[in-house]
Amino acid sequence: MKSELFEVAQRSPIAERPRRLRRLQSLRMLVRETRLSTADLMYPIFVDQRLTGRQEIEAMPGISRLSLSDLKTEIDEITSGNIPAVLVFGLPKRKDAVGSEAYAENGIVQQAVREIKRHAPGLVVATDVCLCQYTDHGHCGLVQGGEILNDESLKLLARTAVSHAKAGADIVGPSAMMDGQVRAIRNALDEQGCRSTAIMAYSAKFASSFYGPFREAAESAPVWGDRRTYQMDPPNRREAMREIATDINEGADIVMVKPALSYLDLIREARNRFDTPLAAYNVSGEYSMIKAAGQKGWLDEERVAREVLTAIKRAGADIIITYFAKEAKRWFEEGTGQ
Ligand code: PBG
Repeated sequence: MKSELFEVAQRSPIAERPRRLRRLQSLRMLVRETRLSTADLMYPIFVDQRLTGRQEIEAMPGISRLSLSDLKTEIDEITSGNIPAVLVFGLPKRKDAVGSEAYAENGIVQQAVREIKRHAPGLVVATDVCLCQYTDHGHCGLVQGGEILNDESLKLLARTAVSHAKAGADIVGPSAMMDGQVRAIRNALDEQGCRSTAIMAYSAKFASSFYGPFREAAESAPVWGDRRTYQMDPPNRREAMREIATDINEGADIVMVKPALSYLDLIREARNRFDTPLAAYNVSGEYSMIKAAGQKGWLDEERVAREVLTAIKRAGADIIITYFAKEAKRWFEEGTGQ
């Protein structure tokens, strides 16, 4: 019986032999469909107004909060690796109910942007536009009676975006998930003469548990409640497409899916549906999981990170926001970049 089957297999020709093109590394390179490079990456940085030197973030090995005076060295490292863009987050010296430091002329992000642009005018500077790092309650908008107000928050988000743009930001990234935030920001930018400032909208941003380490990094955890009344519900796919369509309609230049890894299906769907440049945020928890398993010796950290970033690109992202960017620079320098 066994040998009979074998003979049948021998007689019927095997139509496809994909293994022919897997024989050599050079052959595999020729037929590779997705190539990751540092040019795809945007690197998030945390600038802390209270610091005088850098401070490591325990939950994100390899990532530190920086003081303003650390920026030059950090930026030199980034530009020497041909990473085209940074995404700036700020930790202010003080918080209050209305997030005043988010839109203060000499707020930490505004100062950091000026400093980076002075030092490296060709580096793309994007900023996160949100109130959560600046409010004492830790929510992304104004709060009244336990509710996060939408329309009242828009003015402050628009003011924040304009102050970033005036400091020199090339891209502002509204991440508060307030309805109408992209339109409010576009109108304000245009009125204030910031027509060339682009908007990267955190369009499909989910209420995800993968932001845990970031909230330690940015001290932005809500003091009470959670973000589920404004960030998206993770099971929703059609709603994500509506959020993206709305933001494009309101004037977004770049749209985003966040987090990336558990939402690769949405990245692919957005890529198929829309022609607007698409960013994917490989968030803090996705980074820290790999780091932790790597430290334990359970995973080959570098290979896993490369596989993950390549998968995000293969899913359809044009821009990958990732804490691995500086390490990725090393992979390519060493010629190990696949
Ligand atoms: C601010 C903001 C958050 C992240 C980016 N911008 C946190 C949040 O929404 O709670 C998360 C980034 C990460 O986890 O790497 N709203």
